[in-house]
Amino acid sequence: MKVVHVCANPKPIEESASKQLAAAFFETLAEKNPEVEIDNIDLYSEPPPFLSVEALRALYYPSFDPDYQPTEEERRACEYAAKQAARLREADVLVLTTPMWNFSLPGIVKSWIDQVFSPGNLFQFEGTGTKPLHSIRQAILLAASGGVYKEDDPRDALTRQVRAILEFVGITRLSVAWADGQNPAICGDHDQRRELALEAARELAEDLAEVPASRT
Ligand SMILES: Cc1cc2nc3c(=O)[nH]c(=O)nc-3n(C[C@H](O)[C@H](O)[C@H](O)COP(=O)(O)O)c2cc1C
Repeated sequence: MKVVHVCANPKPIEESASKQLAAAFFETLAEKNPEVEIDNIDLYSEPPPFLSVEALRALYYPSFDPDYQPTEEERRACEYAAKQAARLREADVLVLTTPMWNFSLPGIVKSWIDQVFSPGNLFQFEGTGTKPLHSIRQAILLAASGGVYKEDDPRDALTRQVRAILEFVGITRLSVAWADGQNPAICGDHDQRRELALEAARELAEDLAEVPASRT
């Protein structure tokens, strides 16, 4: 089983609840399934450029114009996306570790998604929908937020956005471990909430470790 781990948090692990969820998840996974291969993508170490008009043309025009040939500048502009997508296409499972920022994803993740989740890289347009160009069968979101969110909370654009983007490229299995209430100034039970989320992350790893490689 190959897992690609995308981490989008500039904080050190001691200060980051989501990174602690990731540590608990991967420690448990490695313990239960030593065969697992992990490819770590730390977005703050290998940041995406913003999607430029050159990259946009090189990524999208081939789907609409069979005669389109990228200029050298356009070809270079989509190299980051192509390299990242190649790593995702090697994976069976995608793990995304991220904080909630302004009810959604940090901009660095959105910028990464805008170009990596693109036609020719992770999907192609087909009929009225899309066809996946990868073999990721499931995704796991390890998230943290300062506030407390009930299930289907209308303020939560984080899990909704992640779910919608993944479904768009054919990844319909998404599991979430979410340490909410991590702001100690407003949540007296932040430690207990983190413990519960850590336990959830370990359980997700145990479940994943038990899945036969062909069924991930
Ligand atoms: C720029 C920024 C925006 C934030 N926006 C929200 C928010 O909209 N809702 C929320 O509940 N917490 C918000 N927070 C708090 C973080 O989600 C919280 O600190 C969480 O623990 C971050 O995850 P981490 O501990 O893994 O870094 C924000 C924090 C920052 C720095």
